[in-house]
This record gives sequence, structure tokens and C-alpha cells, in this order.
Amino acid sequence: MGAYFGVSTIFILCLLGFSANAEVFSIGSSSGSDITQALLKAFTSACQSPSPSKVVIPKGEFKLGEIEMRGPCKAPVEITLQGTVKADGNAIQGKEKWVVFGNINGFKLNGGGAFDGEGNAAWRVNNCHKTFNCKKLPISIRFDFVENAEIKDISSIDAKNFHINVLGAKNMTMSNIKITAPEDSPNTDGIHLGRSDGVKILDSFISTGDDCISVGDGTSNLHVEKVTCGPGHGISVGSLGRYGKEQDVSGIRVVNCTLQETDNGLRIKTWPSAACSTTASDIHFEDIIVKNVTNPILIDQEYCPWNQCNKKKASTIKLVNISFKNVRGTSGNKDAVKLLCSKGYPCQNVEIGDIDIKYSGEDGPATFQCSNVSPKLLGAQSPEACSSPLTKLPGQ
Ligand SMILES: *[C@@H]1O[C@H](CO)[C@@H](O)[C@H](O)[C@H]1NC(C)=O
Ligand SMILES: *[C@@H]1O[C@H](CO)[C@@H](O)[C@H](O)[C@H]1NC(C)=O
Ligand SMILES: *[C@@H]1O[C@H](CO)[C@@H](O)[C@H](O)[C@H]1NC(C)=O
Ligand SMILES: *[C@@H]1O[C@H](CO)[C@@H](O)[C@H](O)[C@H]1NC(C)=O
Repeated sequence: MGAYFGVSTIFILCLLGFSANAEVFSIGSSSGSDITQALLKAFTSACQSPSPSKVVIPKGEFKLGEIEMRGPCKAPVEITLQGTVKADGNAIQGKEKWVVFGNINGFKLNGGGAFDGEGNAAWRVNNCHKTFNCKKLPISIRFDFVENAEIKDISSIDAKNFHINVLGAKNMTMSNIKITAPEDSPNTDGIHLGRSDGVKILDSFISTGDDCISVGDGTSNLHVEKVTCGPGHGISVGSLGRYGKEQDVSGIRVVNCTLQETDNGLRIKTWPSAACSTTASDIHFEDIIVKNVTNPILIDQEYCPWNQCNKKKASTIKLVNISFKNVRGTSGNKDAVKLLCSKGYPCQNVEIGDIDIKYSGEDGPATFQCSNVSPKLLGAQSPEACSSPLTKLPGQ
């Protein structure tokens, strides 16, 4: 169809109950049409409005091409997505983004609607998870330098690459986010963050093919609470140290979360022979339930997938002030806890609270391995802390 909607279809309403004098820009399109131009126009008008404004995408299913909604805006902007917007389903892409919200201070995104990345065909032909030399696939939703933002009641389905990428955010709260993609979809991280301060991720459900939440360099004061992950690759700080010019990570709290059927649960991973020397500190996991999770608790400072690094060199990333408290449930393999710290920079001030992780496989019982770390033990641990001889990590 690809019908484009001009100015005439964007009508401006004043609604009582939204905000004193907020303008509302509605996308007046019929289901099935392409709203890329209409949405860009509505966003641009909203962004130019001197008073708070709102863009409404109504119920229905719409096509949406690559779109960048960038500020700075004159006043706060709210986008209410009630329907579903769908990306094109082409397999070969070479594009890095689909929907971008950038440089907006005072932003809301809500409405109960969904972003459908239509990734199915692309996953099958793409090999970016194995090689650098590949056609890039678009991240579904990017927030670039968005501040004082509230993102809630939104779904992301079948992203071709990451579902949500947060870069340079300050004070952003995401809640009631639902992310789904098949377990075998490559690189479909749920929420990836980097260079951001004061992000909260609350009351959300993430079931995807790669990391549930991944925390990149330069992240500080991240709070994750009541998030359910799985399937997928769990919650991961890192990987850190792959590139030069990385920044420190500090102040990460993950509480009251459930991981079910994930490969890896709570993980901190750094590359050996790192290109930089940064510190990741003040990282705390508490009140976590794991259900049939392989490697439920894992610090891996020899992270080297596809042998892309020199494993013999010690990681130069320092891990300081880390805790795992009250982690319970079942492991999918015998490696319930593995703290494999750098031989060059042993982990400092690691606290282990109550741990109760069971494994019922025939090669059991569960193990708790430690290397280059002397954790401070609080409460009770099962398996017994640091009681097992270290075995090598399986090649990743
Ligand atoms: C954080 O952003 C929210 C809007 O989502 C705002 O209400 C709140 O005042 C901001 N907090 C600070 C400390 O600026
Ligand atoms: C987890 O939730 C329980 C029940 O609401 C609460 O008592 C506890 O303090 C929470 N844990 C953390 C670390 O916030
Ligand atoms: C645990 O997960 C594996 C797949 O990773 C599955 O084969 C197995 O049946 C699961 N076990 C239980 C007890 O759910
Ligand atoms: C680790 O915690 C100690 C005690 O709370 C504090 O003095 C120190 O500054 C922390 N180190 C880092 C790198 O955050």
C-alpha cells in the first residue's frame, strides 16, 4: 500500500485531562497503511510545540519504515502507541536502526502497543553473531541521549537485532515492558544499555534469544527490579574490555528478579587481554529465583567467544564491591556458581550471601568454584562456597 499521509491527516485536538494545554497530534490512518511520513510530521510538530504535547498512534496495524524522531524539543513530548507498528520483513538489511528517539529531554512512550521488528527472515541469513564481516541488522528501538523519560506499557516483538538499545540516557524509567522473540533468534538482546546514568527497569517480562538485559560500559546507577527473564542468556554486566576507550561501570542493583530456562543467570563477563583498564564496581544481585538456569551465577574474566582474543593474558578490568545474596532455585548444569576472576587483578570485596541452588543431573551434585577471589561469606551456601576444584569453562 505505502500510502503517505500529509498534514491534512494530522489533526490537532485539545483534550481535557491530559495536561492543562497539551496539544495532541493523532495519526489518522487506516489499518495496514504506512505511517512513516505521518508519524515523522506529527513528531516534528509536537517537538516544535512550546507546550507539552502528545502524538497518538491509534489501534490497528501499521507499516513503519526507518524513522528518527530527534529533538531537542521545545517542551516535553509523549508518544502513545496503541496499535502495532511493523518493520519490513526483508532478510538482507545493512541498516543499523529502525525506530530512533534521540536527544529529547522530557519524554514519555506508552499506550499498550507493540513494535514488531519482523525479524524472522533476517535471522536465518545473518551471521553477525559469529563474524564482524556481515551485513548489519537494525536494532528495533533506540533511545539515544534521552533524559527524564518514562517508557511503559510497550511491547517489542521479533527484533532483527537488539530489541531496545539505550545510549547516553539520564533518569529513564522503563516499566511493564514486554519483549518476545524465539529462543534461537541470534543477537536479539532484550535491553542493552551503555553510557547511561539513572535508568530503572521495573516489572517487565523478557523472553528472547540473547541477553535479557546487558549492561555495557559507562553505565551507572542502574536499578532492575521484578523482571522475569527467559528463555535467553540472562542478565549480564558486560562484556567489558573488548574495545579501547571504555568507561567504568558502577552502581548496578538487580533485585527480586526471576530467571527461567536461561543460559547463564547473573553474569559479569570481561575479555582477557583487554584493550583498556577500567573498573566495574558496586554491582549487587539480591532476592533472585533461578529455574533450570545453566550457570546461574557466573563471573567470567576469560570471556572470549569464537577465540577472538588472547586467552593467556589476564583481563585488566577490575571487579570491586560485588555481591550475590539470596539466590535460590535450580541449575540446568552442575556449575551452580563460578567466580572466575582475573589472575592479574583478583576480584576485590566480593560478598556471597544465602545461596541455595540445586542440581539434579547425573553428573551432579552442583559445584561452587572460585579462582582469584576470596569471597566474604554471609549466611548459608549450598553448594558450599569455593569447595570445588576449578574446571575450565567450556569454549564459548
Ligand atoms: C526524572 O524524570 C521524571 C520524568 O519521567 C521526572 O518526573 C523526575 O522529576 C525526574 N527526576 C529528576 C531527579 O530529575
Ligand atoms: C523483594 O521483594 C520482597 C517482597 O516484596 C521485599 O520484602 C524485599 O525487600 C525485596 N528485596 C529487595 C532487595 O528489594
Ligand atoms: C531444563 O532445561 C533443559 C533445556 O535447557 C531441558 O531439556 C530440561 O528438560 C529442563 N529441565 C527441567 C526440569 O525443566
Ligand atoms: C568499595 O566499597 C568500599 C566500602 O564501602 C568503598 O570505600 C570503596 O570506595 C568502594 N570501591 C569502589 C571502587 O567503588
